[in-house]
Amino acid sequence: MRQATGNALSAALIAAISSIEKEYTMSLDRTERNARPGVDRQFIDRWSPRAFDPTQEISREEIEIIFSAARWSPSCFNDQPWQFVVAPRTGLDFQDFLETLAPKNQKWAKKAALIGYVVCRRHFAEKEAKNAWAEFDSGAAWMAMTLQANALGWYTHGMGGFDQAQAAKRIGADGNAYKVICAFAIGKRSDPSTLPEDLRDAESPNGRKPLSEVVQFGHLGTPPTA
Ligand SMILES: Cc1cc2nc3c(=O)[nH]c(=O)nc-3n(C[C@H](O)[C@H](O)[C@H](O)COP(=O)(O)O)c2cc1C
Repeated sequence: MRQATGNALSAALIAAISSIEKEYTMSLDRTERNARPGVDRQFIDRWSPRAFDPTQEISREEIEIIFSAARWSPSCFNDQPWQFVVAPRTGLDFQDFLETLAPKNQKWAKKAALIGYVVCRRHFAEKEAKNAWAEFDSGAAWMAMTLQANALGWYTHGMGGFDQAQAAKRIGADGNAYKVICAFAIGKRSDPSTLPEDLRDAESPNGRKPLSEVVQFGHLGTPPTA
C-alpha cells in the first residue's frame, strides 16, 4: 500500500518536474545570448520564434494595447508616419495576408494569431515634402509594439519575405503615398517540434556582433574602448 502511494507520488513529481522543465526550456536562451551587465532583460529576451501555437487567439483588447504602445514612439516632426494593417487568424483577411508571404514564411506563419504589415506614409501629413525618415520612424514604432507584445506574453516575427506589390494591392495602399515596409506575425510560442523539419534547428535565439563593431567614437572604425 505504502509502495503504491510512493509510486503515485513519484509519478506526480516526475510529471510536475517535466512540466517545469518544458516551460523552462521554452523560455531558455539556448545560445550564448550574452548581454553586457546593465542591459535591460526585455531587449535580450526579445527574439523571433517561428513555432507558434495555432490554438491561441489574440483578443481585440490585446491588439489595442500592443499597437497603442507603438503610438508613443518618436518621429520626425511628430508626424507618426506608421500604419499597422492587421489580420487576426480568426478573421476573413488572414488567408489573403498569408498568401502574400514567401512560401517559406507561410509554412510557419500560418499558425500565428495575427499577420500584419508595417506601412509608412511617404510624405509629411502637414507638408507636401517627402519624409526621408518615415521608414526609420516606423521601425521604431515596430520595436515598441514588439516589446509591448512580449510584455503580454506574445512574440513577433518580422518578414521581409513577402510580395510587396500584392500586399499593397490587397490593403489598398497607393504606392505613391504609402510604402508597405515589412510583414510580421504575432503569436504565442509553441514547441519547436511542431515546426517542419527544415525550420527546427533555427528555432532558438541567435547571437549578435560585438559592441566594437557597431559603436565607434568619432569616426567609423574606432572601437568604443579607444
Ligand atoms: C525587416 C526584417 C525582415 C525579416 N525577414 C524575415 C523573413 O522573411 N523570414 C524570417 O523567417 N525571418 C525574418 N526576419 C527575422 C530575422 O531573421 C531576425 O530578426 C534576426 O535573425 C535576428 O533574430 P531575433 O529577432 O530572433 O533576435 C526579419 C526581420 C526583420 C527585422
